[in-house]
Amino acid sequence: MRRIHVIGIGAGDPDQLTLQAVKALRGTDVFFLLDKGEVKADLTGLRRDMLDAHLPEGSYRVVEARDPERDRRAEGAAYSAAVGDWRSARADVYGRLIAGELGEDQVGAFLVWGDPSLYDSTLAILEEVLARGEVAFAYDVVPGISSVSALASRHRTGLNRVGRPIRITTGRRLAEGFPQGVDDVVVMLDAHQTFRQYADQDIDIYWGAYIGTPDEILVSGPLAEAAPRIAALRAEARERKGWIMDTYLLRRNPGNR
Ligand SMILES: C[S@@+](CC[C@H](N)C(=O)[O-])C[C@H]1O[C@@H](n2cnc3c(N)ncnc32)[C@H](O)[C@@H]1O
Repeated sequence: MRRIHVIGIGAGDPDQLTLQAVKALRGTDVFFLLDKGEVKADLTGLRRDMLDAHLPEGSYRVVEARDPERDRRAEGAAYSAAVGDWRSARADVYGRLIAGELGEDQVGAFLVWGDPSLYDSTLAILEEVLARGEVAFAYDVVPGISSVSALASRHRTGLNRVGRPIRITTGRRLAEGFPQGVDDVVVMLDAHQTFRQYADQDIDIYWGAYIGTPDEILVSGPLAEAAPRIAALRAEARERKGWIMDTYLLRRNPGNR
């Protein structure tokens, strides 16, 4: 039976690869690297560097494929449909890779940014491939250090305050309002700097871009003061590199709800 490792590789720092991940890399015959377009080529390069650093030359095969693009114009109700179509197009690609590039008794691996359990669809896509019944395989998951853990460690802060909950959400959701019942909110996938919406409130921000990489930028402080600085740094970095990945924690003073 074909086997697949879904390996969390950390959020950018090659030293975040766990020993468990290295063991799984060493037990893999074929790596599937999915390229999400020119601007993300850096991320594919980093995955290749990890393989070079930990595996003997010639002991593995890499198969690169183009990851289908999502329709980013879809908003509102059309958003879920667009994500569904995208997932299904990705399942076509993943199914073809597993059936066509992996021998019956071989082990394949998908290297997932950060941790596979957080805002990543690899596991759902593999389930969809299995549900179609066209190719059989077993898979396991190796956890990775998520960008959320990396953010908290770089700012030397906890995510929650004593006995309090936290929320992890997206920029899209934050735009609909500050989440109810929590004061500590981690925001991912925010292309629009939605934190600016809350700059008139008593909130501290802990922001990080390209965390763990040589381009890392960190800013923290009261949101009203930090927001314009982050906006300027973010625009400059995005222009220079062509893409940006940033995550932030908003910490509201409960007295100011
Ligand atoms: C598709 S999600 C993948 C998250 C990933 N599975 C994880 O565990 O971190 C991509 C989002 O993760 C965040 N992210 C990932 N790597 C990052 C990094 N090195 N620095 C800052 N944010 C990062 C950003 O919010 C980005 O929009």
